[in-house]
Amino acid sequence: MIVTCDECATRYRIDEHLLEKRVSRARCCRCGHVFSIRQPLLSLPAPDAASNPDFVRKAQKPVIIDGMDMSDSARSCKVITICNQKGGVAKTTTCLNLATSLVLMKKRVLVIDFDIQANLSLLLNYRDARSFFDASSDPENSLADYIVKTGLYFWLLPSNTKMTLLNKQQNSENFQYMLRDMLAPVKPYFDYVLIDTPPSGDFFTLNALLASDMAAICTQAEFLSMNGINHIQSMINLIREKSQHDIRSHILVTMFDRDNMASKVIYTKMNRAFTGSLFQTIIEKDDNVPQSQIVLSPTMYYNKSSRAGLQYFSLAKEILAL
Ligand SMILES: Nc1ncnc2c1ncn2[C@@H]1O[C@H](COP(=O)(O)OP(=O)(O)O)[C@@H](O)[C@H]1O
Ligand SMILES: [Mg+2]
Repeated sequence: MIVTCDECATRYRIDEHLLEKRVSRARCCRCGHVFSIRQPLLSLPAPDAASNPDFVRKAQKPVIIDGMDMSDSARSCKVITICNQKGGVAKTTTCLNLATSLVLMKKRVLVIDFDIQANLSLLLNYRDARSFFDASSDPENSLADYIVKTGLYFWLLPSNTKMTLLNKQQNSENFQYMLRDMLAPVKPYFDYVLIDTPPSGDFFTLNALLASDMAAICTQAEFLSMNGINHIQSMINLIREKSQHDIRSHILVTMFDRDNMASKVIYTKMNRAFTGSLFQTIIEKDDNVPQSQIVLSPTMYYNKSSRAGLQYFSLAKEILAL
């Protein structure tokens, strides 16, 4: 890692593995100034949110969420990140249909569009609405002030193009815990928080995973997808190991083609390779999914007997039973 003397700005390359403490002290060879070096990303145990004065101030403010009865605030919230570094594997589709299914099971749900493409916000008809970026750069208001109630009886924290600026905050202190810390005051008002992530392992996925109890890894039953699962699993293992954050992971097979022999073979291989980690529910390929998205509707509302719609309902039941 590169460290910079905060007096004369001389830069040094140091081996981060030699840092024994969370914060170490070093003397600059050039100007003699003594400065602090922090262990880098993922070497840290979870920092205490209360150490950030911004969060202390915001946490003291009463939480008010759009269209919600705020007297009911003792729910044991589960946060689930829907992820995979691969695009087009039905992450956004899963988020929308799973949230709808959980609402049908009388659960109070928040979905967070944490993808700069803002596809989930688009499907929910929230274009250019205020996003996590706006909430994080607001010195006064908290995340709750940016959450909107959708017509589908769940809540949404939308995304917009400004979200891309969050990548620039990677050097700020505790950036990897931004979502977790901002989410903390609103969690008691929800049973489930679902986070839709972009197809990458950067700021967004890392923040989402560090805020989550579970990762639902969406994948197709295709040969190259097995490698993608290994990739995200190692990221989750690293998080477990280095940040002492306990997160379980489950694999969701999506767009399964039951008439395709290769899909069936790969599914059997996946079951063997990731024993016990696959959701029992499989989401099959179903034309009702893309059709429902054209009219901005969850699949089970577009066609209540659609195969994928019913399977998303089964997935919600399986998650409830975990
Ligand atoms: N079960 C399914 N059957 C058929 N098409 C699907 C299914 N699930 C998703 N799709 C389609 O696949 C495409 C990618 O889905 P999306 O949810 O946007 O993926 P991601 O968020 O991972 O990029 C979309 O066009 C969507 O309509
Ligand atoms: Mg998506």
